Amino acid sequence: MIKIHNLLKQYNDLLVFNGLNLDIEKGSVVTVIGPSGSGKSTLLRCINGLESFQRGYVSVDDQILYGIHEQDYRREQEERALKNIRRRVGMVFQQFNLFPHMTVLQNIIEAPVYVLGMNQAEAETQALSLLRKVNLEGKVQSYPNQLSGGEQQRVAIARALAMSPVAMLFDEPTSSLDPEMIDDVLLVIKDLVSEGMTTVIVTHEMSFARDVSTQVVFMDKGEITEQGSPQDVFSYPKNDRTRTFLSRFMR
Ligand SMILES: Nc1ncnc2c1ncn2[C@@H]1O[C@H](COP(=O)(O)OP(=O)(O)OP(=O)(O)O)[C@@H](O)[C@H]1O
Ligand SMILES: [Mg+2]
Repeated sequence: MIKIHNLLKQYNDLLVFNGLNLDIEKGSVVTVIGPSGSGKSTLLRCINGLESFQRGYVSVDDQILYGIHEQDYRREQEERALKNIRRRVGMVFQQFNLFPHMTVLQNIIEAPVYVLGMNQAEAETQALSLLRKVNLEGKVQSYPNQLSGGEQQRVAIARALAMSPVAMLFDEPTSSLDPEMIDDVLLVIKDLVSEGMTTVIVTHEMSFARDVSTQVVFMDKGEITEQGSPQDVFSYPKNDRTRTFLSRFMR
């Protein structure tokens, strides 16, 4: 469903990826782990078109984003693909990024109504059912600053789901939460995954990664140095860097 082919990504003179490849099958749950600065967020941002890149391509379903120096890069086609990919791929960030001046309900219906052209009533019905799904039925009319971090993050998940995405990307969704709120958010993600949502998640929650993922990817300095089932990567890491990294989390 998602294919990353020969991705070359530079920020000015910093080379982040020099020919990265990754295939993500429909329904799979890929956790991306690795040290700070290894390129995890950049990878997610390239997948949903928040970052352009120089070479290679990223495809989601039938939509392809090419590197700006690729022969096949065509500006108009690219803009169409970008629009489609941003609609179809949901993203949840460490900092929830809710619209602060809007209620929970308004946050969730905004994109379906203004981007997809869904009618207001239908969008509201959908929003209520999504709020039920993330266990926040009572917070419809609250503003983001009246919610805890864990609640805000669950609203952010509901908001992403309101676009009926074909895949969801999570960038450290629990890293800025107090410990007692982490499980509520992980539970919601677990539910989603069990319904078959194709998911890529950057996380430091190793036991969660071990429980839910079908594939674990270890990134180091812009390269995938290890990749396999959670069993393979967590129990029998082949690479020294993976072993050192994991030992910090598995004490
Ligand atoms: N907008 C940007 N401009 C320039 N350099 C950037 C930009 N974003 C990221 N970088 C650099 O690219 C590299 C990869 O960053 P990235 O944010 O993808 O790492 P990460 O694995 O997500 O790290 P962390 O675990 O700390 O979130 C880092 O060296 C970072 O400094
Ligand atoms: Mg990051």
